[in-house]
Amino acid sequence: MAELAPLTPTERLLRACRGEPVDRPPVWLMRQAGRYLPEYRRVREGISFLDMCRDVDRAVEVSLQPLDLVGTEAVILFSDIFVPVPGMGVDLDFAPGPVIADPIRTRAQVERLGVPDPRESVPYVFEIIRRLRAELASRDVPLLGFAGAPFTLAAYLVEGGGSRHFGALKRLMVREPDVLRELQARLTDLVVRYLNAQIEAGAQVVQLFDTWAGLLAEEDYREWVLPVHREIAAKLDRSQAPLILYVNDGAHVVDAMLESGADVLSLDWRVDLADAARRVGDRASLQGNLDPCLLAAPPAEIARRVRAMAAAAAPARGHILNLGHGCLPETPVEGVRAFTEAARALGDSR
Ligand code: CP3
Repeated sequence: MAELAPLTPTERLLRACRGEPVDRPPVWLMRQAGRYLPEYRRVREGISFLDMCRDVDRAVEVSLQPLDLVGTEAVILFSDIFVPVPGMGVDLDFAPGPVIADPIRTRAQVERLGVPDPRESVPYVFEIIRRLRAELASRDVPLLGFAGAPFTLAAYLVEGGGSRHFGALKRLMVREPDVLRELQARLTDLVVRYLNAQIEAGAQVVQLFDTWAGLLAEEDYREWVLPVHREIAAKLDRSQAPLILYVNDGAHVVDAMLESGADVLSLDWRVDLADAARRVGDRASLQGNLDPCLLAAPPAEIARRVRAMAAAAAPARGHILNLGHGCLPETPVEGVRAFTEAARALGDSR
């Protein structure tokens, strides 16, 4: 790899996604713009979270903050997986997670859900993307778009909010499978339109977040989640933007994730990266997977873990350094900085 000229951050990320040679792994962090940054909290003051997602100036500002404050090498659109959902006719708020006034549990409720054209229902999202691309052009830093996966969106919509076991969702799954199937079908249409519109507006990579799919045993995951991921992967304009698939707590479904056809599998920290890398080989790249809590460690320990992750992921065709889940409000800023610095240091040793 030493013969490869230094890459721009955009080239490095796109090549890592597609499994082409890189000088070193690229680095960014899930939830890199968020409450752990005092600068984020200042911009967030006196405005609700949803209003902030709609405020193009503030959303652009906080999206860019992590670049200079903590040294990440990609920007993720500041928004939330629930931003396109009110356009379906769902009454939704954040406190701080999503709260659904009238949980969706019947066929009649599902049939009332529309699938809007996101370019009309949430035009500001695409305005933010266009502005970010313009801001990032001179630095050649890549922009990621994202969406929530239908299963995770459905989990909150059925439950009415977050939950430990998502019992209402699982009851619907076994008692009225057709209702859940129709809900997922409508959410799938929304997600495909939403991500393709983000790609059209300038997102160079897109990530699908399926935070709660790991709650299912592999057999149920294969029935309820895998076909949805495959459909989304097939319908996205991936000649323009590779797809990263994130499943939290998904060590038991890595092989099934691979069958989705996603370009990159984003793994949580419970997955053995070396084992996953051997299993995916040249069929996918990997992203991850430090436990976000471990950013509280001393910088030398963070650097050791970064080197260990890069070595463990080597058998996979590509690797993007990231966390196993998002930064937490209590994440130390110095820990995030140590993480991105350790990634850059990997280039020096080659
Ligand atoms: O990664 C990024 O920096 C981009 C922005 C982003 C947010 N949410 C901002 C946010 C992304 C990619 C998400 C994804 C998201 N949102 C997921 C999937 C990934 C995951 O974390 O599992 C889920 C399940 C949600 C739903 C959601 N939004 C929850 C459960 C919460 C509350 C928990 C929390 O961390 O506060 C939110 C709110 C939210 N989304 C915040 C941010 C920065 C905090 C809002 C605030 O400022 O009060």
